[in-house]
Amino acid sequence: MKSIQIAIDGPASSGKSTVAKIIAKQFGYTYLDTGAMYRAATYLALQHQVEQEDSSAIMALLDQFPISFGRNEKGEQLVFVGDVDITHAIRENQVTNNVSWVSALAPIREKLVDLQRKIAAQGGIVMDGRDIGTVVLPEAELKIFLIASVEERALRRFKENKEKGIPTDLERLKEEIALRDHKDSTRAVSPLKAADDAITFDTTGVSIEGVVAFISKKAKEILDK
Ligand code: DC
Repeated sequence: MKSIQIAIDGPASSGKSTVAKIIAKQFGYTYLDTGAMYRAATYLALQHQVEQEDSSAIMALLDQFPISFGRNEKGEQLVFVGDVDITHAIRENQVTNNVSWVSALAPIREKLVDLQRKIAAQGGIVMDGRDIGTVVLPEAELKIFLIASVEERALRRFKENKEKGIPTDLERLKEEIALRDHKDSTRAVSPLKAADDAITFDTTGVSIEGVVAFISKKAKEILDK
């Protein structure tokens, strides 16, 4: 059966991972959260007190504790470095607030992009991130670029954190999201931007179901061609 590559990019908390997971399930494709991989590298850097910019130390840690994914009994995705489950740890504020400098290091990006392409080569995939349509999978049949206002994205992350029991201040969250947007879109290597052939979709005020229906329809159109 024909399978395609679906690239979903966009800024922090634009709803990428939520919709990407649902789409992957609908189509029976693999879902890859590339943000989790940059978060895993950041976790290792912090855990081992790596100096900022020291990409060789992080590269060595990634060799020693390779990133892998698993599933729990509920079918939820788990993230590991070596055999340590860091699924929850990588969502903590300390990781979130340091991930921009780690993900701006070219050697780290090269290593993780290589891994992302290897996973994509195995079949139908839905991958979410910042540079999937532009760098990781430039040949993806469907490229979606999701955007939403800073206010709405901060509110989404606030609710998510509350559910996970992570204490958060909404105003501070808005500032952090705006700052991360700025850093992600102005960095020299693979900045956050829509691919020329991506469909940009503003999810402000749109339900998850609405976004899923839109992407699903586009994917089916390509598969039926
Ligand atoms: O999607 P997220 O918030 O979990 O991503 C965490 C960080 O990782 C984000 O601030 C930028 C970086 N990232 C990246 O540089 N490239 C990707 N493909 C995915 C994430």
